[in-house]
Amino acid sequence: MTLSRRRALRLFGLGAVAAAGLPGCSLFEGTPQPQLLASTAPLPKPYAVPLPVPEIAKPSRTTGGVDYYDLAPRAADVEILPGLKTRVWGYGGSFPGPTIEARSGRRTVVRLANELDVPTVMHLHGGHTPPESDGYPTDLVRPAGRRDYDFPLDQRAATLWYHDHRMDYTGPQVWRGLAGFFLVRDAEEEALPLPAGERDLPLMICDRSFSEDGQMPYPGHGDRPGALEPYMGGVLGDVILVNGAPWPELRVARARYRLRLLNASNARTYELSTGGPIVRIGSDGGLLTGPVTVRQVRLAPAERVDVIVDFAAHKVGDQVELRNLAGEGPQARVMRFVVDRDARDDSAVPAKLSTIERLDPAKAAVTRDFEFSSGSMHGGTGWLINGKPFDPKRMDARPKLGDTEVWRLSSDVAHPVHLHLAHFQVLSVNGKRPAGPPEWKDTVELRDAQTVEIVTRFTGYKGRYVFHCHNLEHEDMAMMANFEVV
Ligand code: C2O
Ligand code: CU
Ligand code: CU
Repeated sequence: MTLSRRRALRLFGLGAVAAAGLPGCSLFEGTPQPQLLASTAPLPKPYAVPLPVPEIAKPSRTTGGVDYYDLAPRAADVEILPGLKTRVWGYGGSFPGPTIEARSGRRTVVRLANELDVPTVMHLHGGHTPPESDGYPTDLVRPAGRRDYDFPLDQRAATLWYHDHRMDYTGPQVWRGLAGFFLVRDAEEEALPLPAGERDLPLMICDRSFSEDGQMPYPGHGDRPGALEPYMGGVLGDVILVNGAPWPELRVARARYRLRLLNASNARTYELSTGGPIVRIGSDGGLLTGPVTVRQVRLAPAERVDVIVDFAAHKVGDQVELRNLAGEGPQARVMRFVVDRDARDDSAVPAKLSTIERLDPAKAAVTRDFEFSSGSMHGGTGWLINGKPFDPKRMDARPKLGDTEVWRLSSDVAHPVHLHLAHFQVLSVNGKRPAGPPEWKDTVELRDAQTVEIVTRFTGYKGRYVFHCHNLEHEDMAMMANFEVV
């Protein structure tokens, strides 16, 4: 057992007592819910800063059809709240990190040089990646260390993201800023007349809290040692950032925009609405078979949804708020669009976007059950899968390469469950089949007391991978397990 693991357990043991009396624990007595960490800085005015768009990373070199990127996680002081400096940990010193634009089937190598004074691990979330490059939580890149992450990208176009994945410390390290977009493009998608260029916008949504001097403290890790216990259900911030800016504003034309929404929050789930129709075109694993018009979009931690919003439905001068129906007060706001000009719009949303093979559960070689719940571990309370805390040495499933499997996932409180390597399709939620054609997912939200069946196929690589809850506090407190493709 590592030192850090022991430390987390000790804090967690105390936490079981402290958290039981907190509000918001009613449904499952003693099971803590995410808790708000209140800012001591005055909250910034909404819609007072422009939306930043993360810069597109340039390959440091391209040889033999392979693109190489240099990415150095490092500390930097940046202005997030107007007039204050915040020390972030960012890839290339920026939060979000630079957006990597890659092509399906084209090898992309990220050379990580760790300039932080703590170990880090990088994971490409949604990547179909060989195990040595998947960012296993103990494959640490030490301070001043380097590692090449080699991504064959044998997968379809999709909005992926990269982030820290250090065992026991993913919550604090992502909170400090270690996350960025990784877009995979392909010819199928490029042949469609979807909005492109500056009208194809990645939006990383996450919540943070700020101290009076502008810092983003994280409970229990350095800033206020021992203060993690009340937050074992998850840390919620009270300032909503989009691409690293608080409640920003974007000036838009009267035209269609493609918004690639990513929830990069540690523990907050959003229910996003513009007040008008939203056209869903994609999910974690890329395009849907066809567009689906909805009124709102629910996004649990790590989920992505691609949507089209048509601002031509508005007049010049109109303001369109992107709101969070799952939040209250300031947390009900996300960002604002201001329609400020007319524009020619050649884009369209075709009725057929892509083809998705429906995986057949009748062909499954096995059905596995995984229960995500709190329970006792090492004298304290932990977040467990099938009653066990994460142990890098214990293999929890051994799927065969090429096999289809059904996994039956169940929850006590809400858990966004994520599988590395294998994208999946949701078969049922509490026994009910989801409506419509299948879509590819890599993260699925289990709400309170739910059973969700997924079907997946293990392709590409043999080796060891993890699956886990993507509430990052749950993940750090051991709600993770291994599978080995054999
Ligand atoms: Cu987004 Cu295992 O992580
Ligand atoms: Cu992942
Ligand atoms: Cu969880």
